[in-house]
Amino acid sequence: MSTTSERHAVEASPVYPAGSRVNERGHLEVGGCDVVDVVAEFGTPAYIYAEEDIRSRARAYLDAFRSRTDDYEVLYASKAAPITAIYKLCAEEGLSVDVASGGELHMALRAGFDPARIYLHGNNKTEAELRYAAESGVGHVIVDSFGEIQRLDAMLDRPQEVLIRVTPGVLPTTHSYVQTGGLDSKFGFGLEDGLAARAIAEVRASRNLRLVGLHAHIGSQIFELEPYVSAIDALAGLTGPDWECRILNVGGGLGIAYTADDAPPSIGDYVEALLRNAPDDVTVLCEPGRALVGNAGVTLYRVGTIKRIRGVRTYVAVDGGMSDNLRPMLYGARYEAEIADRFGGGALCTIAGMHCESGDVLVRDVELNDPRVGDVLVVPATGAYSHAMANNYNAVRRPPVVFCRNGDARVVVRRETYDDLTTRDV
Ligand code: LLP
Repeated sequence: MSTTSERHAVEASPVYPAGSRVNERGHLEVGGCDVVDVVAEFGTPAYIYAEEDIRSRARAYLDAFRSRTDDYEVLYASKAAPITAIYKLCAEEGLSVDVASGGELHMALRAGFDPARIYLHGNNKTEAELRYAAESGVGHVIVDSFGEIQRLDAMLDRPQEVLIRVTPGVLPTTHSYVQTGGLDSKFGFGLEDGLAARAIAEVRASRNLRLVGLHAHIGSQIFELEPYVSAIDALAGLTGPDWECRILNVGGGLGIAYTADDAPPSIGDYVEALLRNAPDDVTVLCEPGRALVGNAGVTLYRVGTIKRIRGVRTYVAVDGGMSDNLRPMLYGARYEAEIADRFGGGALCTIAGMHCESGDVLVRDVELNDPRVGDVLVVPATGAYSHAMANNYNAVRRPPVVFCRNGDARVVVRRETYDDLTTRDV
């Protein structure tokens, strides 16, 4: 049974979805649903989202802008969790959307997004993807290379509004894999080497492309705000008297708390920083992915094998792993974990996945309270880039996505079946 302090710890935690608590039975509750009951119904592993958490963060972004300016737009960076129900929810809340492939574009359209509110990104958009966007009436394409400027211009027979992606030479502190603002990047046009200025000239000289603004995405899981101010300054420096820059889009990247030690800035402080040096006559856009959905989701697993190696380590193996959350292996990402109906305290364990690799470890050295075979284990803060980067390694079926709200749980993406694993065979 959990103590009062453990209950309070969950309620006050920045890691768990807003509104989470340990209920009277000592079980974790997300979105008003007892997670032990949720997995009794839908099985494990499963991605569980508190729907209201995503909605309230979307509103927090909009409110933070609205209270400071009339000229803003908030885009959901859908790569963080390309899930139809989340696209729908974001459209309902009044967000626009960032898509980074034909597939994400397709999902956004299918979810009912107004094409005018879709922004297409990508450092290597194919001709087919550009055509799909043009034919769908996508509002803005963020052009990323000289080849793309020519290809897009040539295929159009009407004007298309575009932004130019700039690498502004800003390097925030984060994992090098998700730093994107420096000159040495596969993305966009450098500021330092003059390519951004050349791209502006080329777009302006094109037949069909209408340059309406500039874009920079400096990286991801960022806790500092100064780099955003620098990025805005750098973009503003490229706007000249000879063309009207209506939009400055500073991408995404605001970090989240993966563990209780993480203290990211608030959405309000982040928006304040974006607007600090923004020129008066431009509309400021941002593209949160992780900060919208990351803390809204938790992953639930079932504990299977427990292996104690005396004097070395206790492995607690669960029925998922690197197929449903690649981030620990890819970035050395750190997570919390708990037994869902026995919160708090305990001895150090290492949570291993079920895949055929020693490196398939979800959380190293985490305290678990007396883990037993059959327990439900929760890993919080998995709402972003877990489902998104899930794979079928070892022909494992990808987990379902369950939305919880006001005590109701509904599946929005079903679990893959064994038959799904062979449906593409010819
Ligand atoms: N805008 C652009 C152009 C982006 O490339 C990204 C992320 C975002 C917005 C959203 O960034 P966010 O707010 O989610 O940080 N797989 C990595 C993250 C890669 C992010 C790629 N681009 C991870 O799991 O940490």
